Amino acid sequence: MTTVENGAEPRELKGKRALVTGGSRGIGAAVVRQLLDAGAEVLATARSTTYTAPEGAAFVTADIRTQAGTEALATAVQETLGGVDILVHNAGGARANAGGSAMTIPAEDWQDTLELNLLAAVRLNSLLAPGMRERGSGAIIHISTAALLPPVPAFAHYQAAKAGLESYSRALAAELAPFGVRVNALGPGRTATPGGEETRSRWASDNAESGAIARPPLGRDGRPDDIANAVLFFVSDRASWLTGTYFSVDGGEYPRN
Ligand SMILES: NC(=O)c1ccc[n+]([C@@H]2O[C@H](COP(=O)([O-])OP(=O)(O)OC[C@H]3O[C@@H](n4cnc5c(N)ncnc54)[C@H](OP(=O)(O)O)[C@@H]3O)[C@@H](O)[C@H]2O)c1
Repeated sequence: MTTVENGAEPRELKGKRALVTGGSRGIGAAVVRQLLDAGAEVLATARSTTYTAPEGAAFVTADIRTQAGTEALATAVQETLGGVDILVHNAGGARANAGGSAMTIPAEDWQDTLELNLLAAVRLNSLLAPGMRERGSGAIIHISTAALLPPVPAFAHYQAAKAGLESYSRALAAELAPFGVRVNALGPGRTATPGGEETRSRWASDNAESGAIARPPLGRDGRPDDIANAVLFFVSDRASWLTGTYFSVDGGEYPRN
């Protein structure tokens, strides 16, 4: 059997319909490419067209921080794909609080971060998971972060949102398991993406006195395909007995599996 370098076997996901939020760049774009390589039909979404989806994927703009944006996206899913079998909640991120304090994070940054990293997935699942439940199959992935346990005051809003996402992911997994729908969370470590690099360079300039950030134990930063490899495994039938799990993909930096 021919194997591809990354992720699933070629055409392993033929006939599957996938939605990837934040699929225009970084980790999301790598997930889109690997899903396409594995034979899935893919719709990617982002707010802007600064970056567009990888060739071969359909693309729609939507701001998933709002109920209206999420509903527009769900409508686009029905019109483009007719439903989803694979749902990858990847859009996320946050700005470090400039003062480095958890107590001074502006209220709008809290709201924005919770909307993007937690509530967008809650709303989108409410609209799209019932279809999976009716069909008796489906795979949902929540992209969290491996950097959840070491406390970082400047990222308290982001860590709280991702912690909430992981708890919610487990609860949803328990509810949907009897219907054959699997729900898992993955936590990337430091991964070279436009968003990741921007966040870290701002962090480094705000915290120059804390010195250079050490490399993960495996000696390099992650590549978007490192995370996409894990996503492809979890949405494929090879993970057919895995649900309600959290898995770190971080070069060994934050052991907590
Ligand atoms: N890179 C890392 O080191 C790292 C580490 C841990 C966890 N993660 C997590 O991994 C995921 C992907 O990160 P990344 O580094 O690949 O991010 P990225 O390079 O910043 O890309 C984010 C993607 O999400 C889209 N997006 C952002 N806000 C959106 C919104 N409101 N509605 C719809 N789409 C939106 C962006 O497009 P637009 O801007 O055009 O909307 C873009 O396609 C995130 O959940 C992040 O928290 C990343």
